Amino acid sequence: MTEYRILLSQRDLPKSWYNIIPDLPVPLSPPLNPGTGQPANPSDLTAIFPQALIEQEVATSPSLPIPEPVLEVLSLWRPTPLHRAYRLEKALGTPAKIFYKNEGVSPAGSHKPNTSVPQAYYNQRAGVKRLSTETGAGQWGSALALACNIFGLECMVYMVKCSYFQKPHRRTMMECWGAKCIPSPSDQTEAGRNVLAEDPECNGSLGIAISEAVEDAVTHKDTNYSLGSVLNHVLLHQTVIGQEALAQMKLAGAMPDIVVGCCGGGSNFAGLAFPFVPLKASGKNIRLIGVEPTACPSMTKGVYAYDFGDKSGMTPLLKMDTLGHDFVPAGIHAGGLRYHGMAPLVSLLHREGVVEAVSYPQLKCFEAAITFSRAEGIIVAPETSHAVACVIDEALKAKEEGKERTILFNLSGHGHFDMAAYEKYFAGELSDYAYPEEKVKEALAHLPKVS
Ligand SMILES: Cc1ncc(COP(=O)(O)O)c(C=O)c1O
Repeated sequence: MTEYRILLSQRDLPKSWYNIIPDLPVPLSPPLNPGTGQPANPSDLTAIFPQALIEQEVATSPSLPIPEPVLEVLSLWRPTPLHRAYRLEKALGTPAKIFYKNEGVSPAGSHKPNTSVPQAYYNQRAGVKRLSTETGAGQWGSALALACNIFGLECMVYMVKCSYFQKPHRRTMMECWGAKCIPSPSDQTEAGRNVLAEDPECNGSLGIAISEAVEDAVTHKDTNYSLGSVLNHVLLHQTVIGQEALAQMKLAGAMPDIVVGCCGGGSNFAGLAFPFVPLKASGKNIRLIGVEPTACPSMTKGVYAYDFGDKSGMTPLLKMDTLGHDFVPAGIHAGGLRYHGMAPLVSLLHREGVVEAVSYPQLKCFEAAITFSRAEGIIVAPETSHAVACVIDEALKAKEEGKERTILFNLSGHGHFDMAAYEKYFAGELSDYAYPEEKVKEALAHLPKVS
């Protein structure tokens, strides 16, 4: 019988995270204190993060051990399967070999629990009782709700308003795990009230929801903040994906020429791609491609500069590809890709030419998702459809050129809670959005001044 899935046993779950920091081609610019503009001290972060995660943020050893209680929980669904997309290859008539890592098999339905579990664990160990966070599509909020439930923490989720109403069942899912989820901007925080005073109809954005969640953590003594992407420790936790994929590709007797992941804050792409960076550095010709929406093109149209991670300027300044912290993207259905910035680690590798970036409009992504579901069966999340669109293009290019390329991508999540988006696509009610060039200039004008 054809081997569609390349499986590892539970014993093969990676026991450490791969830390890319010592393998970077140039040093990472430090985060800056938003008040002083000087490099942030670890103590600037202790109000909202536990010490263990702050240490991981700046760790320089090449690998960091995964604590036993975290391995126990990850073992509930990891290692995830690597699939060979024979049926998609056949549907496209391509000589390319297509593989995908299926992160949709986690209890929350995406890659996000790979980091929510260690984050909840380290917070619980530090005596924290409650975590606050933001969520775009609802995937991260559900993942944190799941992890908080496992480690006995309360969980408060600010969900970007347009996604909250597009996906009501994501909120119910969070409630199943005992979390509280409200639409953002809300009247529960000063940050939310300020936005609502300016624009009562505001759709929300991840930048606004982050401001609310950070304010919640700062104003509650028992509460820490938890972020689902962007920061170094989050990307670190996701590297279990790429480490497993490397082992599985070896079992399949193949190595990728192209590695693809969609990019919101950059964590699922990094999780898959980073463990391949040392191979690329040692001379193997591997293209690492991050895919973003044309409606929120932080890498393809943004600037590489210090910016806030949130709308109200409460977070440290990060050097990253950004569209400006006050950018509110159009209400595209890939809610998890509507973030104004890109992870500093991914941005640096992009600027150094290690990582390529491309952008796709949403209609082409939905078209690709339908081609994929009809060939492979799995209905992907709208975020993931961006990776699928790029993979299909690369596979068709291989066909045109008559090249036998091997393509690997991260199926970052299933789309079972995204039927409203698919329904609108079938009804012809979705349109494409491109981020206009004038807006790039406007964003530049609002960036914080750093000497
Ligand atoms: C299914 C899915 N894929 C990808 C992303 C993008 O996030 P990141 O770039 O941090 O992996 C999200 C974010 O919510 C998501 O839900």
